[in-house]
This record gives sequence, C-alpha cells and structure tokens, in this order.
Amino acid sequence: MYLPTLTRRTFLTRTAAFSAGAVLPVLGLRNAQAASIREFRLKASPGRTQLVPDTYGNTPVWAYNGTVPGPAIRVRQGDRIHVVIDNGLEEETTVHWHGVRTPNAMDGVPHLTQTPIAPGETFTYEFDAVDAGTYWYHPHLNSTVQVGRGLYGPLIIEESEPVRVDRELIWVLDDWRLTGDAAISDDFGNPHDLMHNGRIGNTVTVNGRVPESIAVRAGERIRLRLINAANARIFGLDFANLEPVVIALDGQPVTPHAPANGLVTLGPAMRVDLILDMTGRPGSRVSVVDRFYKGQEYRLVDLAYAEAALRKAAPDWPLELQDNPLAEPDLGDAIRHEVTFNGGMMGQMIMAEMGGSMGNEASGGMMGNMMNMMHGRGIWFINGKAATGHVMDPLLTVPRDSTCVLAMTNATAWHHPIHLHGHSFRVLSRNGLPTTHREWQDTVLMAPREKVEIAFVADNPGDWMFHCHILEHQAAGMMGVIRVS
Ligand code: C2O
Ligand code: CU
Repeated sequence: MYLPTLTRRTFLTRTAAFSAGAVLPVLGLRNAQAASIREFRLKASPGRTQLVPDTYGNTPVWAYNGTVPGPAIRVRQGDRIHVVIDNGLEEETTVHWHGVRTPNAMDGVPHLTQTPIAPGETFTYEFDAVDAGTYWYHPHLNSTVQVGRGLYGPLIIEESEPVRVDRELIWVLDDWRLTGDAAISDDFGNPHDLMHNGRIGNTVTVNGRVPESIAVRAGERIRLRLINAANARIFGLDFANLEPVVIALDGQPVTPHAPANGLVTLGPAMRVDLILDMTGRPGSRVSVVDRFYKGQEYRLVDLAYAEAALRKAAPDWPLELQDNPLAEPDLGDAIRHEVTFNGGMMGQMIMAEMGGSMGNEASGGMMGNMMNMMHGRGIWFINGKAATGHVMDPLLTVPRDSTCVLAMTNATAWHHPIHLHGHSFRVLSRNGLPTTHREWQDTVLMAPREKVEIAFVADNPGDWMFHCHILEHQAAGMMGVIRVS
C-alpha cells in the first residue's frame, strides 16, 4: 500500500503574519493565529503506473506528478494554500477542490469561474483552508476522461485538535475499466454508461493499487479517511466485526455513530472518516467486503494482524471532532425550492422519446436515438433542463446570506450523488424522516425515488455548480448553476 505524500523537499513553507481578516475574509475562524502559506505544484501529464499485479503489466494513465492518486496535499486549518497547476496534457484542464469552501474564482469550473488552462500553461489557485477535514482535488473539464484516467488526489486539512488515534490511513478508492493487457478501456462516454449507472469498471484500487493486505496491530486505533474517486461506482463497505464509528462525512464532523445497516456507504466524491478499533486476535485476518451492488460482492482488502498486540483492549479516548465554522441554517426564515431529478433509462422522458420513434429505421433505431439525445438535449434533467453546453443560466438564484432549503426528489430509477460547490449543507431529512447525526455534507447520495431535504446558508457569493457526481450523468446533462448574489 503506497500513497505518495509531498515531502518538505517538494514544497516550500513560508510563514507570514496575517490578520485573520486578510486570511479568512468571509468565513472567519475563531482563532486568529499566524497562518502559513503552503505552496504546492502539481503537473498533470500522461504517465504509467502499476494498478494491478506485475504479471498484467502496467497501465498508461494521466497523473499528477506521475502518481495515482496524486500527492496528498496536507495543511493545517487556517493555512493559505497556493497550488500551481502545470498542464502537461494535450487538452485543456482545470482543478476543482472538492468540498473546500473556496472563493468562486478558485473553484476550477471551466467557462464559469475561469478560462480553462491550455496545454503547456499554468494556473495558480489560492485559497484558505477554512474547514478542517478530508477533501480531494480533481479536474472539472472532460471529467469522465480526466478523472477516469487517474487525475485526482487527497487534500487533507488537519484540525488544530485532532481526535487521538494511534495511526491515520487514507484510502482513495477508485474503479477502473481495464482491458486484458491492463490498459484503460477507451470507451469513455458510451451511451450505455450515460443512460444507466455510469462507467462502472472491473478493477477496484485502493491508493492506486489492487490491494492485497494491510498490516494492523491488535488494540490499535486507526483513523481511516475514505475518499471515493471513482467516476460512478458506489461503495458499501462491510468491516465485518470491527464496529467502525463514523466521525465525519465529506470532511465535516458528525455525531459519532455506527454506519446505517452496518455498511459504510460512499457515492462518487463522498468522503467518510472512520474510527476503527482493531479488536481482532494477533495473527488473524479480517476482510473488508464491498456489498453495495447486490450479487456483486467482492473482497476489497484484508487487514492482517501482526503477531504482537499493541494493547489489550481498545482505548477509550474521545471520538468527537470540533465543529467547523459553518453558518447554521435558519429554518424559520428559509427560502424553499423544489428540485426534481429526471431522466435516464426507464425515466419518463427517455421512454416517451423512444416510444415515439422506436422502429423508425430512418432515424438509426434505438441507439441512434440515444446518440441524438446525448448530443442534443441530454439524458438527465434537473427541473426539466439538461445542461449540454458551456453557457448555463442559473437554475436558481439565492440571495446572499439567506438560508436556502432544497427539497430534492430523485424521480429516476438510479442512484445519484448530488454535489453543491462552494458550500456545505445540512442534510435535514430523507423521505420525510429527520436525520439524526447532524449531517453536514457537500455530496448527498440519493436512492431511486428518494426525497432528500438539504439546507445551507448562501454565504459564499458567485455561480456554483450543482450536479450529479456520477461523471457520466453530469456529462449527459445532470448539472446546473446555483447563483448566490
Ligand atoms: Cu467533485 Cu463539481 O465536483
Ligand atoms: Cu446521477
């Protein structure tokens, strides 16, 4: 298991005395300390990496600084982050800091918040690490291909008072569609993936490798930061008898709790921070199994206990993280919007379309129709609209600093991880039942036909993307813009 981390040699740290006002203009931290400027450089370019065991050969990928995942960017809460992105690809790119409440111009959305970074050009992103937690970075341009070929990495913002553990692990999960010679299948964006549950692959990696086992010690406490970087695969991890405790979702602290139905569920782009007490016997093994898709369970990785125990019983250290400086929604004075997601295979719009022209050979039959819809009006819709070009009129406009409630309905037959940029939102209810762990998220997984209510204070001005993070759904129309002004 190998996860590259930038070392002192590859970045410079400068300490600068900032007034809290200068560093954290809108979202001020309680603690006005001297912050550091942390400088990083990431070059996106083609490379090769060993995703699968040697015997299959290595895989041509696109990577940041030559590794998949890209280097872990690790800073302290309150630091200011400078990242120079060097585009060594043969196409335009941008970088989005998923889940981080950056100023709008630093959000990395092409044609909305910035001009794309041309091949051979650089762009410098600069923002404050306002909220502690587990985040990640990835391109926001031609994402099905760019993320799907390996461009992504973890962004960890450390708490000033982290929970006490013996060891911390980051697992960046990904799912690849590989051919027999370990190459990435180049059927990106095919109509079947667009209309169904996205590009589900055949090879799952942890930190860019098909994992074998991870060494653990009886009695140790691990903080596991899980990041789902897959285009489309949803994970539902079963940690057997380990009784994991969820302490944060999408970077934001929650009331520590056991995962629902015993499965740690992560849609694409979602993060879960877990506390794992290794309660097994020295010398034994335990398998982590993914059970999300019924009938397609598989062993993700084994945890292998060393012969010597670290301690006899699990420690009783506190599990609670301190809250981030998020504004609490004022539900008594909220602006409410209904948002309905539609489309996809078995969705009403597509079926009507196909019913009307099925058997019409002149139009190229069913596949031809799908292609037309894909390139023309889209396959997935938000409030009846599919985004198919660069220019997007806002789906909603929300007055700055107001509380906005989105009452969302998934009217499709598919799961969708719904992501809002620039804000974290409270998940208030699912199918009318209030949530119970003070969930703050930036990406919420909606089951088929599910209704989910979220609320946020629109305190970050600008045009923000709101989209499904199954990247094929996003590409086929399932995105819009929420304007905070
Ligand atoms: Cu992780 Cu709009 O993206
Ligand atoms: Cu979707």
